[in-house]
Amino acid sequence: MRTPLVAANWKMHKTRAEATAFVEAALPQLTGLDGVEVVVCPAFTALETVGRLLAGSAVRLGAQNLHWEREGAFTGEVSAGMLAELGCTYVIVGHSERRRLFGDTDERVRRKVRAAFDAGLVPILCVGETLEERQAGQTESRVAGQVAVATADLSADEVAHLVVAYEPVWAIGTGQAATGQEANRVIGLIRQHLRHRFGPAADAVRIQYGGSVTARNAAEFFSQPEVDGALVGGASLNPHEFAAITRTARR
Ligand code: 13P
Repeated sequence: MRTPLVAANWKMHKTRAEATAFVEAALPQLTGLDGVEVVVCPAFTALETVGRLLAGSAVRLGAQNLHWEREGAFTGEVSAGMLAELGCTYVIVGHSERRRLFGDTDERVRRKVRAAFDAGLVPILCVGETLEERQAGQTESRVAGQVAVATADLSADEVAHLVVAYEPVWAIGTGQAATGQEANRVIGLIRQHLRHRFGPAADAVRIQYGGSVTARNAAEFFSQPEVDGALVGGASLNPHEFAAITRTARR
């Protein structure tokens, strides 16, 4: 059985002081939870601070982005090796905000996924269709295409460790979450696509839902058989709400 993964994507929120206050409030509530894995993904500037506070706990550290090269003249960028050195276990790759605002094409996402694995990090690969794509009936083809390119040069063994986050773009930060049924349907299609390419390894892949997940609607997603946790934005900024979501995800 897959252990659900609930990840906090803080985006460009929380100074080190704010991040410290969050961990101090949340960690007692996140300690000793069986049947769920928890990840916190702060901004680069708070990674080390949060990493120190989480040390010795079961809560994992994740970054929100990386560059695909190991080092070089890439001003402002951070490599996978630098994140691994800071104690990151996970890294979010291909978030729709990065695709839309910062030029993360499918091809760049593929290189970032490769770089993450090469440094021993587990990528949380984000995929999802826009509202226009959904209305044009292109949800399946868009999502399958994103997954196909991003996993093009992975082995079945690597794929078994991959985390995918299905985040419909229209559901992110809008309060308009997908229904549990619809999230389950698209996630099932993603798994089918992975099974077709990688065989039984697909059954080990954790596929999260993301997009306006809150403590109120979390159970609707986590009761679905294909949904293996959530990537949480806004609701992850509050330690009590985030802890409530993680409790709901336990299997
Ligand atoms: P919200 O939970 O704020 O909709 O954000 C979702 C998201 O983008 C997580 O990566």
